[in-house]
Amino acid sequence: MSFHMVEFIEKKRDGGEHSEEEIRRFVTGFTEGTIPDYQAAAWAMAVFFRGMTPVETQHLTLEMARSGEILDLHDVAPFIVDKHSSGGVGDKVTLALGPVVASLGLPVGKMSGRALAHTGGTLDKLESIPGFDVNLTIEQFKEQLGSVGLVIAGQTHDLAPADGKLYALRDVTGTVPSIPLIASSIMSKKIAGGADAIVLDVKVGSGAFMKTVPEARELARLMVAIGAGLDRRMAAFITDMSQPLGNAVGNALEVREAIDSLHGGGPDDFREIVVALAGEMLLLADKASSREEARALVERQLDNGEAWKKFVEFVAAQGGDVNSVENPDMLPTASIREPLKAPVSGYISRLDALTVGKSELILGGAREKKGEPIDHAVGIVLHRKVGDWVEKGEPLMTIHANSREKFDEARLFLLGAYEFSDEPPVVPPLIHDLILPEES
Ligand code: URA
Repeated sequence: MSFHMVEFIEKKRDGGEHSEEEIRRFVTGFTEGTIPDYQAAAWAMAVFFRGMTPVETQHLTLEMARSGEILDLHDVAPFIVDKHSSGGVGDKVTLALGPVVASLGLPVGKMSGRALAHTGGTLDKLESIPGFDVNLTIEQFKEQLGSVGLVIAGQTHDLAPADGKLYALRDVTGTVPSIPLIASSIMSKKIAGGADAIVLDVKVGSGAFMKTVPEARELARLMVAIGAGLDRRMAAFITDMSQPLGNAVGNALEVREAIDSLHGGGPDDFREIVVALAGEMLLLADKASSREEARALVERQLDNGEAWKKFVEFVAAQGGDVNSVENPDMLPTASIREPLKAPVSGYISRLDALTVGKSELILGGAREKKGEPIDHAVGIVLHRKVGDWVEKGEPLMTIHANSREKFDEARLFLLGAYEFSDEPPVVPPLIHDLILPEES
């Protein structure tokens, strides 16, 4: 069959459905460079408006996964469970969940990403630990997965290169927010990463890609269906990102908060998400016979120090300074640490995650463009969240900055994150839904 890219674009423009073969030819040509970016971009825009069927989306996922190496980790671990978050503000879940799950004998090998725009990245958080190395070869990755049971590294260029290329193109052509393109992008990397089971955390709210619960549910259902169709065990949580998760936002600050949680403390909302997601990973891997048992196992590992021990072992294995996680005051610290005070008395009715995420960008803790350096020490620690009462003049948060100018700019900006009310507001649920394959 001959393949004509113009006809491929026209078919989608006119609302047609692609065959498996057409999608394969497109992905192969685009990866090899015989299909130019402008044609791929035109097609992505056609998908943005016309959508794709679940079957087309599954084909695109698999072809993008097959565009590079597909990891087989079964020589070092019999069953691989992965977790993926669609990205948010204060989302340091992997830092606590990884050690918990690994401490129960279930190996976790995760390829993570970096901070971009207002969303944080696990690799940047880990790099706030002096010496921590996220650049591992596949051999090193596998070796540590076998010996420690926990490894977190940057994605190699060999995994799903078609997605790397298409995502970069979508980023500059206004075609990121398409549910089938997001679903295939995320799932192609998970499939290429060698996962047998995947727990997804689809964030919803101002600080997330998905702004409404119905949209988040659609994305979650599609990803669960793609994974299940490829014989992966799947579960997807839809969790709140209207306000930041936990209290800390900022790389070293989030590591500190994760350390608190690994000692059995930390904020309740953060712990709740860790327990839910880690519990579901155990359930999918048959390490527990019920959700209740799985959750109890996670709680036990957080409280008895076993997850903490695994975290220390993992940090040491990747060259991180164990002293600085055992004594978190040795982690990077900002020179200015001053409160933002409540301008009025009242209940906090809104604490906008997007505004907090953008202020992290102002402080220099996140990046606008790929490759930009960041300041690991800066960020925000929340003292009150939605539903809490605050008296005028009491601290709402502490801003950690390394320049007076950036502090002043962030402070003004952050005041806009809050709304207050005289009546107790409705606090959004932390977990909106859990999507499992039979429901999708
Ligand atoms: N994250 C991804 O990896 N891909 C997308 O398209 C959106 C978010």
